[in-house]
Amino acid sequence: MSTAYTEQQLIKDIRSVFQNSLDPREQAHSIAQIIERGFDSGWPLNSAKFGEENGTYEIYKDKELGHPSAGFMILAYRQPASKKTTPSPHDHGPCFVVYGVQKGSNIQTRYTYSYSDDRSEMPSLRPTQIIEQLPGHAHYFLPGEIHSTQGSTEIETIYVRITSMDLTNITRHRYDVKSGRSRSFSAHDARTTRK
Ligand SMILES: [Fe+2]
Repeated sequence: MSTAYTEQQLIKDIRSVFQNSLDPREQAHSIAQIIERGFDSGWPLNSAKFGEENGTYEIYKDKELGHPSAGFMILAYRQPASKKTTPSPHDHGPCFVVYGVQKGSNIQTRYTYSYSDDRSEMPSLRPTQIIEQLPGHAHYFLPGEIHSTQGSTEIETIYVRITSMDLTNITRHRYDVKSGRSRSFSAHDARTTRK
């Protein structure tokens, strides 16, 4: 029988990713693999920091490491079946995020601005990839990448989110799909709206 992969080891492994690489793509990719290994061992359900109530659980916050500066965070969510919502694309500013599902599912959509050859036209926002995240899957969005998240409309979803800094301190953007407009936001309004 293989040895259980503990939360303590998982945190240690994520810290060593930040210690050994400065490249956010490499960091996010390695962290996605680490949390998939955690899912295989029953994490975050087996975490002392996780609970039965719906909501957000802070599993860990680092004081020294992160990208582009210190403060990466591990958050876990227990979310009831959710209503289908209007997509709310956003980025995470200069930070990256790794999202992984332990139970249920999330739909992640990735967007990019599309430019016409006609310079008089404004760029439009287009979805480029739709990802169904199933249990055990982790994906990531790199600094500046625009994405939106839809939780399962049928069953409870338990997922984790590793942000490369504490996003409440980060100015970032939210986008309107139809018009392509964006607005910057930060701090306390980030706490009351979707990731
Ligand atoms: Fe996000």
